[in-house]
Amino acid sequence: STYLVVICALNMFSVAFVNLLRPVESLSFHHVEGRWALISVSAAVPKYLEKMKLADSGSGVFANYTDSTKISFTRISSVSDSCQYMQTNVTLDGSGFSDPHLNISMTLIQSSCQDCIVVRLDKSPDQPLRLYLFSRRREVEANEMEEFKAQAECLSMSEHHVMDPTKELCPEQISRNPAASTEGQTA
Ligand SMILES: *[C@@H]1O[C@H](CO)[C@@H](O)[C@H](O)[C@H]1NC(C)=O
Ligand SMILES: *[C@@H]1O[C@H](CO)[C@@H](O)[C@H](O)[C@H]1NC(C)=O
Ligand SMILES: *[C@@H]1O[C@H](CO)[C@@H](O)[C@H](O)[C@H]1NC(C)=O
Repeated sequence: STYLVVICALNMFSVAFVNLLRPVESLSFHHVEGRWALISVSAAVPKYLEKMKLADSGSGVFANYTDSTKISFTRISSVSDSCQYMQTNVTLDGSGFSDPHLNISMTLIQSSCQDCIVVRLDKSPDQPLRLYLFSRRREVEANEMEEFKAQAECLSMSEHHVMDPTKELCPEQISRNPAASTEGQTA
């Protein structure tokens, strides 16, 4: 909407205005540690959202290695009753993460939602690709969703997809114990 465009634009000139795209500061591993359920996603290219609509659920897990400063980030999605895992190593850089193998920067954007993280993916500086809303909960309040939608609009992303909160999340890790893995996948 016009109103939002004005707010986004004003921020470039005055920090006194509420900035919907303010990155978090002094990000620490403890801020993100553990599992997050994917609530909603917006994309610069709407075609990407079609892919997301095929997934029943999505989550992300941040974990630390005991012997290094690397952080493990695993994206987990449930597609037609199977669980897919994609693990990458990322480096913490103040407001977000970077993956040295991909030219994609991940920045955490401030949110009024206390148990959420909003992750902005950029292909190169100021080339936003996607915006993700994760929470420790499976569903957020209407006002929290509105804030996320406004943040996406500030990045010129007009469409978004909301995950079905009733669909079960995949277990955090591929378990080598068949009993544990069955337990994790009980529908
Ligand atoms: C990960 O854990 C190791 C060992 O406890 C620690 O030295 C390192 O600083 C941690 N990394 C982060 C990003 O917290
Ligand atoms: C990430 O780093 C850990 C610890 O150095 C390593 O064991 C693991 O294989 C790495 N994973 C990837 C996908 O590079
Ligand atoms: C990442 O960007 C740098 C500088 O723009 C470029 O030199 C490099 O080839 C890119 N790497 C990948 C994997 O695209």
